Amino acid sequence: MQRNNAVDEIKSRCNIVDVIGRVVPLKKAGSNYKGICPFHNEKTSSFIVSEQKQIFTCFGCGATGDVIAFVQRYYNVDFPEAIERLAGEYGITIDKGFFKKNEKNDKLYEINRDAANFFYSAFTKTANAGYAYMQNRGIEPATLKKFGIGYADEKWDSLYTYLKSRGYDYNTLLELGLISYSKGKYYDKFRNRVMFPIINTRGKVIGFGGRIIGDGEPKYLNSQESPIFLKKNNLYGLNLTKQDIGKENCAILVEGYMDVISLYQSGVRNVSASLGTALTDNQAALLKRYTDKVVLSYDADDAGRKAALRGLDILYGAGMNVKVLHVTDGKDPDEFVKKKGKEAFIELTKEALPYADYKIEHIKREVDVSVTEGRVEFLKRAIAVLKTLSPAEADIYIKKIANDMKISEGAIRMELYGGDAGFGTGTRMENSDKVRRMPENVQRDKDAALRSMSDEDTAGDGMRDAEHISATEKHLIKIVLTDSSYYHKVAAYSYIFTNTKILAIWAAIKSVYRDGEEINPQAVREMLEIEEQDVFDDIMKNTLVAGYEEQIYIDSVKKIEIHEMKKRESEIKVMLSLADEDENGENIKELTEELMEIQKWINAQGGLQ
Ligand code: UTP
Ligand code: MN
Repeated sequence: MQRNNAVDEIKSRCNIVDVIGRVVPLKKAGSNYKGICPFHNEKTSSFIVSEQKQIFTCFGCGATGDVIAFVQRYYNVDFPEAIERLAGEYGITIDKGFFKKNEKNDKLYEINRDAANFFYSAFTKTANAGYAYMQNRGIEPATLKKFGIGYADEKWDSLYTYLKSRGYDYNTLLELGLISYSKGKYYDKFRNRVMFPIINTRGKVIGFGGRIIGDGEPKYLNSQESPIFLKKNNLYGLNLTKQDIGKENCAILVEGYMDVISLYQSGVRNVSASLGTALTDNQAALLKRYTDKVVLSYDADDAGRKAALRGLDILYGAGMNVKVLHVTDGKDPDEFVKKKGKEAFIELTKEALPYADYKIEHIKREVDVSVTEGRVEFLKRAIAVLKTLSPAEADIYIKKIANDMKISEGAIRMELYGGDAGFGTGTRMENSDKVRRMPENVQRDKDAALRSMSDEDTAGDGMRDAEHISATEKHLIKIVLTDSSYYHKVAAYSYIFTNTKILAIWAAIKSVYRDGEEINPQAVREMLEIEEQDVFDDIMKNTLVAGYEEQIYIDSVKKIEIHEMKKRESEIKVMLSLADEDENGENIKELTEELMEIQKWINAQGGLQ
């Protein structure tokens, strides 16, 4: 079955009331159904499912979309996975070529899963030092099981012997970093360690972290990078916690494996950890699939503070609302929550400092504001922070700083905007800034929203049509191939890629890309299948951007934003048509205001539509 036929078939055969009714108790209410929204915490039913329109809508949190969007959001899966899932449940057959499978990677995943099971058996079947160690650290059996914790014993070849008996190829084992080869011998990389399987959001074991039992170096040994394990693209624990993160609409980001596990055990479940490295743009983008609010809770030491400052910039740059928390008791969240418990930790998160406050506090810690030079230095550095804010946000902090430091507001404004106090200039991210100030759920639901109600979507340039390749998709791909310094910028908008061939090209670019290096188009091309190469060649030959990268990038972003706003506009219209005057009066007012704001925004964009 072809892609579009498959999508149509799914939509006509999978009744949304039935699909949602399996996981959310629904009650008939007039011509619609009602229930408790699974996407935010609520006591009354603001969640409406329309059988006639085949859509869901929540008046509490603004979530809305069709049956595929529901499955994507509820199970946190991507578009093809949602289709696969529904097709499986409803016995709809789909052409095999529809889901491209990479057999080589499947083998790597299989071996890792096997290894994880091997470590898990060693950990659970008989008494061992690993289990004793974790017990000693207060981790309960149920938590250990949940995280699939395992044990690598002290021998040199336990895992190797096992995997060999399973008939796996040596080179593949080496590639995964499970074994090493030296002086004619293969031996296990992980020995005398507690094993933490690292599992991606699709539930695949992509690597391991192993903690030495007792003292020794390195304290944590991590799997080397492999075709299925790119540290910069993954976060620890997210496979288990993504739903809690979505539900709380907040992620607590910590440094270590043990922080995740301890917090989770204590009941703070919306938690995840960067994999022992500085936070990356890709990790921020990954988190943003589930929430746009992050509380950074790194270690209370100097390294932790430095890492928090960097992480803060990355997350803020990704358009997220980010705060910083440093535990007050113990060196890290693990120690804190063990001593003080869940409630105390939650109290701390409430006091976490917002982005600009944290930056400004940090400057105050570094300079001596009791002397004139210090105050000048403070102001200079504070201005640099203010420049990253939207004018409205900057305004709030101008007042705060003026009050705090006894400097006149005018003087700060003068420094910030220059002599003529030209408001609105000098702030970065003009485009995302607009989105930033739109009502929250415009951003939050954009992924699901873009997928939803495609029948009604006649606006825009067909960006969401699976078969058609839009000019915007081609342009963004070509820009990255022409100038790799656009990689992260384009990655931030890669969610608009829906065409399977474009997705394959983007996946190839991602795996070829190395920070600070040009991308070799030939290397990308080699990773593609014949039909994808045809699209690739077409883009290389016919999509012209050279010399105009920045302008075309800005235009593309603008198109995407306008498209999103129009999408949201049509969603709101549908929501309003479902709203009940008596029950949803307040929502109707809010939605109408949002609608007006969006229409105003769209009108203000002028020419580009
Ligand atoms: P920490 O040293 O703070 O770990 O490193 P921790 O979680 O407090 O460790 P415990 O409590 O003593 O067991 C934080 C994270 O940095 C990475 C790991 O991901 C670790 O969880 N790390 C640390 C390494 O990758 N290698 C190391 O040698 C040390
Ligand atoms: Mn730590």
